[in-house]
Order: sequence, then C-alpha cells, then structure tokens
Amino acid sequence: MDPARLAEAFRLFNQVSEELTTSYQALERQVVGLTAQLAEANAETQRLREEAERNRRLTAMGEMAAQLAHQLRTPIAAALLYAGNLENPDIPTGTRISIAQKTVGRLKHLERLIQDMLLFARGEVLGRDTFPVDDLFAELAHTFEPLAQQRGVAFQMAKVPPGLMLTGNRKALTGALTNLLENALQVVSLSGGQVSLGVDVTEERLAFTVKDNGPGMPPDVVARLFEPFFTTRAEGTGLGLAIARGVARAHGGGIDVVSEPGQGTEFVLTVSRGAGSEPTLTLMESS
Ligand SMILES: Nc1ncnc2c1ncn2[C@@H]1O[C@H](COP(=O)(O)OP(=O)(O)OP(=O)(O)O)[C@@H](O)[C@H]1O
Ligand SMILES: [Mg+2]
Repeated sequence: MDPARLAEAFRLFNQVSEELTTSYQALERQVVGLTAQLAEANAETQRLREEAERNRRLTAMGEMAAQLAHQLRTPIAAALLYAGNLENPDIPTGTRISIAQKTVGRLKHLERLIQDMLLFARGEVLGRDTFPVDDLFAELAHTFEPLAQQRGVAFQMAKVPPGLMLTGNRKALTGALTNLLENALQVVSLSGGQVSLGVDVTEERLAFTVKDNGPGMPPDVVARLFEPFFTTRAEGTGLGLAIARGVARAHGGGIDVVSEPGQGTEFVLTVSRGAGSEPTLTLMESS
C-alpha cells in the first residue's frame, strides 16, 4: 500500500478511536449521573412508602380513637338519661325500679366494653389447665340451647370423641366460641335458621367449626372482620372476633372463615394440642 495512504488511514483510525474514547467517557459520566439519580429516586420512593405507612397507621389509630369515644359515649349517654329520670320524686316505685335496672344494664354494658378493651390493649398471659372438651361443649350447650330454642333456631352440636382433652385457657376459649356462636345466632333468620358447632381432631390440633345458614358476607366485610371495632350491628362493639382470633393465636392456632352472600358462613377456630408455654394474648399484632 502507498505509505501516504497508509499514514492517512492510521491518522483517521487514531482520530476515530479518540472520538470513540471521548464519547465513551461522556457516556460513562452519563451512566454515573443516571445511577445517582436512580438511587435518589429509590430513596425518595422508600421515604414516600414509609410516610404512607405511617399515615395509614395514624389514620387507623385516629379511627380507632373516634370509634372508642363513640362506643363509650352511647351507653354513658343512655345511663345518664335514665339516672336523670330518677330525680323525679313523683314517679311510681315500679317505674323507678325499671329505670334503675335500665341504668345498671347500660353501666354493665359499659363495664364489659372497657374489660374487652383492656383485654385487647395489653398482652395478657392467660392461665392454662387441661380439661375435657366435653365440659366445654356442655357449658356452651347450657348457654346456647335455650337461646336457640327461644328464637326457633335449630342448634346442633357434634359429639365430642370420648376422653378428648385440651390444654389451654378454658375461660378464654369458651369466650371465643361464645362470640362465634352469638354472631351466628344473630344473623340466622327466625324460621329455618340453623347453627352448628363441630369439632375435628388431628394429632396436632383441634378445629372447632361454627356454621350458620345466615346471609353470609360480601368480600369487603370478610376482609375487615378481625379489625378491632369493625361492626355492622348497632349494638355491636366489633371486638368479638378480634379477641377470638387473639385467643386462638395465643393457643398456637387461628381462625379461618368461609363465607359468601346468600350461602351462610363457616368459622373454623383451631388450637394446637401440643402443651406449649402459657398462652399469651397479644391482640395488637397485624393480620
Ligand atoms: N356469622 C356471621 N354472619 C354474618 N356476618 C358476621 C358473622 N359473624 C360476624 N359477622 C360480621 O362481622 C362483624 C364483626 O363481628 P364481631 O363479633 O367482631 O363484632 P360484633 O358481633 O359486631 O360485636 P361484639 O363485639 O359485640 O361481638 C359483625 O358486626 C358482622 O357484620
Ligand atoms: Mg360478635
């Protein structure tokens, strides 16, 4: 090749390489700049996410405080109203007694509400004993058979396998099942209403089933069932299921629910059969 043309080719080659190096360096600087921007954007996203989470918690706490105030105000207002009537010197004794009873009734409601809230707020260590499941069922039958009969609802209880024992807090478990049965009784219709309590046993766990043929629940209600203070009943506190789930969890189990509008509802409360440590009721944990 002609040396002059060769030199020209080398010069061109060097020029192109220099240009390439310059653009490569410019690109590299751009990549560094973009990476820094990306890191900043990620940090901002993370900050916004944390802020949204904090706002969500604050909103939930605010809602809870408002609901709490409302829950306490209603029975207090009613009790005040009744008690105010007692000041009237002209009311007959019968009426006075009835008003006094109503006042006490509202105050008792308030007391139960406060007890439930305390149970809910502090992580309570529950005592533990070993008892026959049959006794638990007998106690529930004692409460619910007359109630169901009075309301014309068919109440069925499964037969407990003979000798079946459970280790846990009997009072808390009775309370949890009582709430499930109360809820079921409240929703079934007066004619043709059916509520059943069953028990299923495996080596590791006991599963109590409370089933009703009531109206069932839409998914948005199911999603909020265990939120403290979530209720659709005028007289409800909305703490029943939150506490029941806390009790089930304190016993190494939980609560599952299957419900569809028009199909009735089934709650399954499980407890572990392994004799673990003292069950501790911590209700503030998230879902
Ligand atoms: N078996 C059921 N069928 C249909 N809806 C139910 C059933 N059980 C519970 N729910 C719904 O879940 C809500 C919350 O129940 P939860 O027991 O926690 O509170 P509550 O019964 O309203 O009040 P309380 O604190 O007095 O128990 C009820 O208000 C009701 O809307
Ligand atoms: Mg309830």
